[in-house]
Amino acid sequence: MQPPADTAPPRGPGRTLTVLGIETSCDETAAAVVTRDHDGRGQIRSNVVRSQWDAHEAFGGVVPEIAARAHVACLDEIIRTAMRDAGVTWGDLDGIAATAGPGLVGGLIVGLTTAKAICLARNLPLVAINHLEAHALTVGLTDGLQPPYLLLLVSGGHTQLIDVRNVGHYVRLGTTIDDALGEAFDKTAKLLDLGFPGGPAVEAAAIDGDPRRFTLPRPMAGRAEPNFSFAGLKTAVRTAATEIVPLSQKDVADLAAAFQEAAAAAVIDRVQKAMAIVAGERAAPDRGHCLVVAGGVAANRHLRGALEGLTGRRGWRLALPPIALCTDNAAMVAWTGAEKLVRGETSPLTFAARARWPLDATAAPALGAGRLGAKA
Ligand code: KG4
Ligand code: ZN
Repeated sequence: MQPPADTAPPRGPGRTLTVLGIETSCDETAAAVVTRDHDGRGQIRSNVVRSQWDAHEAFGGVVPEIAARAHVACLDEIIRTAMRDAGVTWGDLDGIAATAGPGLVGGLIVGLTTAKAICLARNLPLVAINHLEAHALTVGLTDGLQPPYLLLLVSGGHTQLIDVRNVGHYVRLGTTIDDALGEAFDKTAKLLDLGFPGGPAVEAAAIDGDPRRFTLPRPMAGRAEPNFSFAGLKTAVRTAATEIVPLSQKDVADLAAAFQEAAAAAVIDRVQKAMAIVAGERAAPDRGHCLVVAGGVAANRHLRGALEGLTGRRGWRLALPPIALCTDNAAMVAWTGAEKLVRGETSPLTFAARARWPLDATAAPALGAGRLGAKA
């Protein structure tokens, strides 16, 4: 059920597009309005994100049923706020982009169905968005950076290295074969009794720690394929902690620092491999080769510093979107919608939510590649 083409608003490369984005794939309810001008420059007109963390905290993780109900409770209001903050009316929109996967299917259905209803009522085109693609294209909005580039996606549900060759063309070079990096931070925080979400807590605890007191493994180091593995590292922290219980504050700080250092070293080793693959496959564009980092773990200062060092040594550019746009948000969804609309790509109103939706459909299935119910 698509709106009749003759009454749909005109769109195309010659004019500015205004898109409402909706994000409900996990535990953030978000809506944003973004414009894309005829030169391909993006502007965030509004960006509203409401975390549901309070509703899940008592359970120590995201509960899918609670997440879906919480999206239902506040999505209308969040969309209204995003429209008001942007100062736009329904008539100003050129389309609506909603995350359709991968993620928790109950939440995805809430956002996608809301988008479909508005499209039907306002005669607007729908663009169903892959959440991972939205992360991958965010630098087009924040830095005006267009593909090709290498993407390191490090979040609570995914750890992947993706060669972004063009909008719509993604080649997965590597993925985690067990835990995602954010998940490893969260589990380590739980083990050290630092609370949830664990990444920021581990980073804070590590500030006073000595990373050299404990020797932890660098999983997958040296392997030819740039895959990741963090389960063994997490177990090594547990083993080291078990040997010295009860843990003093100093023990916790040293373990947190050792974990953070080992995790970053493992990431650097894998990214280095992926950079060599990309550099071997294509000549650098005029602006040089570029590494883009997205996902919540990109907030980690130790990892950021290590990535700055690596790219600096190799003469690569490093693009790190602002933290608020590395974590889940709807501006990236609206922007990806605009990038699709300008290419004439829309989705039928029959488009179904997808719990699993890998960016590279040809890559062998692996846990970190768009797994069922994973937070992206
Ligand atoms: O991208 P994100 O906000 O949500 C999704 O997973 O989609 O990422 C959340 C993950 C969590 O695992 C959290 O612990 C981790 O990012 N994280 C961090 C830091 N801030 C957030 N990990 C390490 N250091 C941080 N400063
Ligand atoms: Zn995400």
